[in-house]
Amino acid sequence: MGTTSARGDLIRTESLGKVFADGQVQALIDVNVGIAQGEFTTILGPSGSGKSTLLGILGGLDQPTTGQVLFEGKPLSSMRNLDDFRTRKIGFVFQSFLLLPTLTARENIQIPMFEGPLRGSQRVEKATQLLEAVGLAHRSEHLPSQLSVGERQRVAIARALANDPPLILADEPTGNLDSRTAQSILDLFSKLHEERGLTLIVVTHWEPLVDYATRVIRLKDGRVASDEYIAKPLRSYRSVMNEGLETPASGRV
Ligand SMILES: Nc1ncnc2c1ncn2[C@@H]1O[C@H](COP(=O)(O)OP(=O)(O)OP(=O)(O)O)[C@@H](O)[C@H]1O
Ligand SMILES: [Mg+2]
Repeated sequence: MGTTSARGDLIRTESLGKVFADGQVQALIDVNVGIAQGEFTTILGPSGSGKSTLLGILGGLDQPTTGQVLFEGKPLSSMRNLDDFRTRKIGFVFQSFLLLPTLTARENIQIPMFEGPLRGSQRVEKATQLLEAVGLAHRSEHLPSQLSVGERQRVAIARALANDPPLILADEPTGNLDSRTAQSILDLFSKLHEERGLTLIVVTHWEPLVDYATRVIRLKDGRVASDEYIAKPLRSYRSVMNEGLETPASGRV
């Protein structure tokens, strides 16, 4: 269950296991999942089921005890420079936004770009474009404390896109938001997924997120309990744009 063909997988786990240092907690057990480019995957499961542990290992923030993660066919463990890999290939979005409080929205977005090739004026231009993409062109000079929580998460999403990574990993990105704001953040993810062909892996225990996903993986006690492909998400950016339509207009596999 949960294993897909190696061909075309952007990221894949093989027999992934994680035991925490005290040896008491088996956080992940034999997790085999392959995520293809362009999927909008949500990973659900109750608290303690291993979601954040899995996401951290997928993003190279943590190491597995057994098994491995392959990105574009290459084991993360073989990469000389994981920092560089993360900077170029992965955009992270967290529940608590993790914005720097003394930097404006536009400055926060540029942080990951300092590791890349862009020069000062190009960084500012790119950040401005990203602010537009997340609907915050009018908030560019605001500090995080001057933004609503939903706006803060939009800035964090723009920051995740700073280096055009092929993969976005999000851990409970709607966890600090009321349901209406959460919905608008999911609509934004859906828009980015459709317009940019982004691959998204979003960890949550918030069931409505399932409506947006093209893939739903459920974890239970550290194992994959189910793994389902959804050809036509119930909600998508396009269906939201055509509010009132019973059938979503989007339906890629
Ligand atoms: N650093 C750690 N040391 C020891 N045990 C840990 C550590 N991190 C997580 N765990 C344990 O591993 C298991 C999985 O934790 P994880 O944070 O991945 O769950 P989760 O599904 O993300 O939960 P939540 O929905 O509450 O965020 C839990 O039993 C947790 O207590
Ligand atoms: Mg968690």
